[in-house]
Amino acid sequence: VRLSLPLAAVLLAGCIDDGVIIIAHRGASFDAPEHTFAAWDLARRQGADWLELDLQMTRDSVLVVMHDDSLDRTARGPREACAGLVRERTRAELARCDVGSWFNAEFPERAAQEYVGARIPTLDQVLTRYADGARFYIEIKGDGMERELLDALRRHRLIGPTARAGRVYVQSFSADALQRLHALDPSVPLVQLLEDPVPAAEMPSAFAAIARYAVGIGPSRRIAGGALVRAAHEAGLLVHVYTVNEPAAMVTFLQLGVDGLFTDRPALLRDLLNR
Ligand code: G3P
Ligand code: CA
Repeated sequence: VRLSLPLAAVLLAGCIDDGVIIIAHRGASFDAPEHTFAAWDLARRQGADWLELDLQMTRDSVLVVMHDDSLDRTARGPREACAGLVRERTRAELARCDVGSWFNAEFPERAAQEYVGARIPTLDQVLTRYADGARFYIEIKGDGMERELLDALRRHRLIGPTARAGRVYVQSFSADALQRLHALDPSVPLVQLLEDPVPAAEMPSAFAAIARYAVGIGPSRRIAGGALVRAAHEAGLLVHVYTVNEPAAMVTFLQLGVDGLFTDRPALLRDLLNR
């Protein structure tokens, strides 16, 4: 990446906190199909600190990693197994689906033969594959998966008495889901995702309420500004903004003092921070 001189100067001026974390959004999902081992492997090679992933639950109550509640955008394969809603399919059916080929068709300039045949991973498979110390930023999509998620985090020693701390965040747009999880295990660090603007006058009370169960907020880039970052920090909350893929926008958010960025392009952010 070639930075313009003003961007490089901002970084050289030392006004950016070097503790900022790089969260690989669905893996390195600009360069590889989202939510595949190829995307998370690449994210780690690109210098991401955290691997982001979204959870869906199958009809037979297996947590699988996929963004949409429907299979239709990213899954290819037999219609009876690979179309429609994830929650109406079993784990065995989903194991027949290819989640790499859509990427090659959609982005031929970034296509790779190795993506063909990529499978929908279960949460267990992801936590096993990256058990060597990777950090997981896991999003609850949908209702009623908190207990299964906590069980998996305990099985993989990401939480609990023998866990090494600091390897997992759980995030959700659903305050209810986060509060249920907090009631079950208050030791799990939670991040409240936010997509709607919060009026400045309401920020102190809104963020104080979030701070009762979460350690941070994950605002959309559309609503993240200086006032929001300051108010969140005053409430003791971390601020991780999603989803930022352009170097100029990365610098803007870093200058605001955010604590982390979700990005499809971890290599760009790593390159910026390295300078
Ligand atoms: O988790 C942050 C961001 O990923 C939320 O949006 O739709 O990409 O899951 P989405
Ligand atoms: Ca997400």
